[in-house]
Amino acid sequence: MSTKDNSAANKNNFDTILVLDFGSQYTQLIARRVREMNVYSEILPWDISSDRIKELNLKGIILSGGPESVTNSNTPRAPEIIFELGIPILGICYGMQTLAEQFGGQVAASKIKEFGHAQITIENTSILFEGFDIGANIDVWMSHGDHVSSLPDTFNLIASTESAPIAAMEHAEKLIYALQFHPEVTHTKEGNVVLENFITKICNASQSWKMEGLIEQKISKIKKQVDDQKVLLGLSGGVDSSVTAMLLDQAIGKNLICVFVDNGLLRKNEAEDVELLFREKLDLNLIVVDAKKIFHRHLKGVSDPEQKRKIIGRTFIDIFDNESEKLKDKINFLAQGTIYPDVIESSGSESNEARVIKSHHNVGGLPDDMEMELVEPLRDLFKDEVRKMGLELGLPQEMINRHPFPGPGLGVRVLGEITAEKVNTLQEADAIFIEELIKAGLYNEVSQAFCVYLPVKSVGVVGDERRYADVIAIRAVVTVDFMTATWAKLPYEFLELVSNRIVNEIEEISRVVYDISSKPPATIEWE
Ligand code: XMP
Repeated sequence: MSTKDNSAANKNNFDTILVLDFGSQYTQLIARRVREMNVYSEILPWDISSDRIKELNLKGIILSGGPESVTNSNTPRAPEIIFELGIPILGICYGMQTLAEQFGGQVAASKIKEFGHAQITIENTSILFEGFDIGANIDVWMSHGDHVSSLPDTFNLIASTESAPIAAMEHAEKLIYALQFHPEVTHTKEGNVVLENFITKICNASQSWKMEGLIEQKISKIKKQVDDQKVLLGLSGGVDSSVTAMLLDQAIGKNLICVFVDNGLLRKNEAEDVELLFREKLDLNLIVVDAKKIFHRHLKGVSDPEQKRKIIGRTFIDIFDNESEKLKDKINFLAQGTIYPDVIESSGSESNEARVIKSHHNVGGLPDDMEMELVEPLRDLFKDEVRKMGLELGLPQEMINRHPFPGPGLGVRVLGEITAEKVNTLQEADAIFIEELIKAGLYNEVSQAFCVYLPVKSVGVVGDERRYADVIAIRAVVTVDFMTATWAKLPYEFLELVSNRIVNEIEEISRVVYDISSKPPATIEWE
């Protein structure tokens, strides 16, 4: 295999909308909205080279918002090349302001930053607002400090608001459009209509792109990056690392080495299930490390949650490091299932260049002294897009829809000191709870569900005998973003069934309680 094989991969054979990124927190969302319309979209930094732009099969360009002010010199501007291509351009927020400035209009810094709901009024007919009458009001989302204070000569006003009289403008012949508000966020109720008008009626992009297109593209990008070298991946069995494994498998086959560490803090049968799926069924190159004893030894006598987390993280790194050293070949690449929400806090204008990481990393944990280039094919995708991709790549539905599971696993669900026996008891109870949720059709109705082993004993009666035994708490929450969550109102009959099964089938447990705390003030996990 040679990198030359993939030289054509840059030239997409489907219509592409380029999103030029000026650093907005919403840039990825713009690309996502375009992809939802079955049109491929690619994000590149605003200062990308002209050659790179020319390589793409572009139907249109969207300029994102950004945190800078065009009223300051040395702030980003749209590259001149985009005006020479004769394709439609849509500027959003900062994108609008730089267009206004570059075409001879004026931008003024507002004293008050406008952030939140606003209402625009359609002032003139425009294809961009097709479907809305002149005078119609649209609820939109604004997030800006500056505003266009005077239109460039060649532009027409197409919408206004009270605080931003020039809220949208167009140059109908050059097909350049601009919006002060954000059509890509859901708070702008009809934002999709506006974006779709741009994509389908102004750019005339064909809505023929599908998820397979993205998969093919990711695969050729991986091939190009790693060529015929080996790649190491810490497989956790979660959705993100599993989808990463599947993509890499398709790209480089046996040159992918997956390492799965059994830390003795997993759900019941987890290690066996991962082995069965990835090694037996999917034929991936998988190393399973049984490190249960090492983790339990390191955790002995430790009951502070943060200390437990640190020990689990450090032990993982040591074991992963150790495994990679055992491999015969020198490994230059480390794959990670980082997804867009994991990197949302990092700068938006980062280019696609591979980054070399030397130190500890939050996702999976990198060995400290390893110098490896990262392969992160999911870095620009949202969770639901990763799930869709996983299904296309042949991962089973049950695995794709699994609830999130924390990195420290049952280590933070056995409260207080961890022992193998307590983990075992918890695994059994948890397996019953999850099995019953699936049977009752409730698993997908809740966002996360699990059992917690409490550090207390309670008296129970079994037959004629008193039993002084463990207490298990059941936790189920409903949430969209895991930042806030409400406790799930599971039916009483269902809770009764789960409680009966747990107490009857697990000798070590005498009592089951249901957690009715929401977040905030409680967190989802107990530790
Ligand atoms: P909390 O308990 O903070 O949890 O409401 C929010 C989400 O994060 C998960 N969680 C973790 N995930 N390492 C992880 O990888 C951790 O240490 C950790 N702690 C909590 C939790 O399961 C929930 O989905």
